[in-house]
Amino acid sequence: MATTSAPEEAYTAAPFLPGGRAPSLTALRRAAAGCRGCPLHRDATQTVFGKGKAHARVMLVGEQPGDQEDRQGEPFVGPAGRLLGKALEEAGLDPADAYVTNAVKHFKFTWAETRKRRIHKPPTLREMSACGPWLEAELSVVKPELIVVLGATAGKALLGSSFRVGEVRGTVLEREIHGRPERLVPTVHPSSVLRADDREQAYQGLVADLKVAAQALQ
Ligand code: URA
Repeated sequence: MATTSAPEEAYTAAPFLPGGRAPSLTALRRAAAGCRGCPLHRDATQTVFGKGKAHARVMLVGEQPGDQEDRQGEPFVGPAGRLLGKALEEAGLDPADAYVTNAVKHFKFTWAETRKRRIHKPPTLREMSACGPWLEAELSVVKPELIVVLGATAGKALLGSSFRVGEVRGTVLEREIHGRPERLVPTVHPSSVLRADDREQAYQGLVADLKVAAQALQ
């Protein structure tokens, strides 16, 4: 296994994945903790790997860990995660039955001027594709019946850079991803609900999309 940072032109997590034919989620999580496949590991506290049942029926894919997730080492434990949990329950999806992960496994941020607060920075396409092998490995273990795509970054990571969430949200897409036929329901990222001018309307839109996912699982 590689021990140093990859050179700029070759960002990829691939050399950090465990060997063997079908590594477990535990083996993947342990290996991801040492990932140096792109520069994001340098400033983040830790790798935030996916969490949930190994054979969950639904996989939720977000963008990247936020401030709280970076500190606690678990995905969606901050404000966006709390909102997502509420929306899932309202839509009839049990959050405990889902595998939850992110397209990018390290928190990318800048410091606020006061240096007291870390401000989320969106990952670049290069960072997303560097991190792609972890998401691919998670998909190959969990083999979910449905993927809920939370926002543009997750959509681009799974469906390509032309993905536009507004064009396909709340619909069931069928696509081949890494050689496997997948069904996906895209929706907005829960953080965008927290930022919306009309928060209630944005929240109801998220719940409506998640109901499409719940229906697709029946
Ligand atoms: N936003 C994400 O996309 N993922 C998290 O884990 C937290 C916030």
